[in-house]
Amino acid sequence: MWQAQILTLFPEMFPGPLGLSLAGKALENKIWGMDVMQIRDHARDKHRSVDDTPAGGGPGMVMRADVMGHAIDRAIEKRPKGTSNEDWPLIYLSPRGKTMDQKMVHSFVKNQGITLICGRFEGLDERVLKKRNVQEISLGDFVLSGGEIAALMLIDAVVRLIPGVIGEPDTLLEESFTSGLLEYPQYTRPQEWEGEKIPNVLTSGHHEKIKEWRKLKSEELTKDRRPDLWNKFSYKKSDD
Ligand SMILES: C[S@@+](CC[C@H](N)C(=O)[O-])C[C@H]1O[C@@H](n2cnc3c(N)ncnc32)[C@H](O)[C@@H]1O
Repeated sequence: MWQAQILTLFPEMFPGPLGLSLAGKALENKIWGMDVMQIRDHARDKHRSVDDTPAGGGPGMVMRADVMGHAIDRAIEKRPKGTSNEDWPLIYLSPRGKTMDQKMVHSFVKNQGITLICGRFEGLDERVLKKRNVQEISLGDFVLSGGEIAALMLIDAVVRLIPGVIGEPDTLLEESFTSGLLEYPQYTRPQEWEGEKIPNVLTSGHHEKIKEWRKLKSEELTKDRRPDLWNKFSYKKSDD
């Protein structure tokens, strides 16, 4: 069973939205699991403090290396014996990290599990990241107030790829990014809405033509909205 370990100061934020819909049903059916660990349980003083002022001065607080080191070691102990960071990535959600993409998500689903460290304040003491060989992953070029929502997003993206979570696994093959392109436009009934009709080809029943139209629209959309993806896609196509 794919397992997500989460280190957080706000365990009550989990499973949150992941307890609903397909992910929630799969969680209930033990297709995947979640182990939420309170970072504060690893504090060493009577005030249970987890943060301190930044060395060198400046605003905010920093999460202490000793507390975080202890919390991470406990999470590592709970992984199956002999598991390395290769089989079970140790990740700090951080705006400084490599930006997550669908390729990364596909690689996470092949692992036995994942450990996600949710930062707060100004983030973690750099030494703990180095000493425990922690990988940093960002959800995008913006700053959240904590890593919890980023962790929920990462887990959601992985869980929907686990066999048995989505009723119609074929939907995963055609969606955005899987082929390197954005998905084509989708339509459903009514046939006409506020003067707008569903493109004729989609109601023609001609499967080959529908496939061709969808491919063309996927390419047009990607070229228009995401020239970065389009360049990568056309470069790869010319390589093949
Ligand atoms: C207020 S932020 C800290 C930002 C940090 N001082 C910086 O400028 O890089 C607090 C926490 O939110 C999480 N976080 C913020 N933005 C994120 C992003 N884009 N992706 C993933 N996690 C993020 C991280 O865990 C971070 O430690």
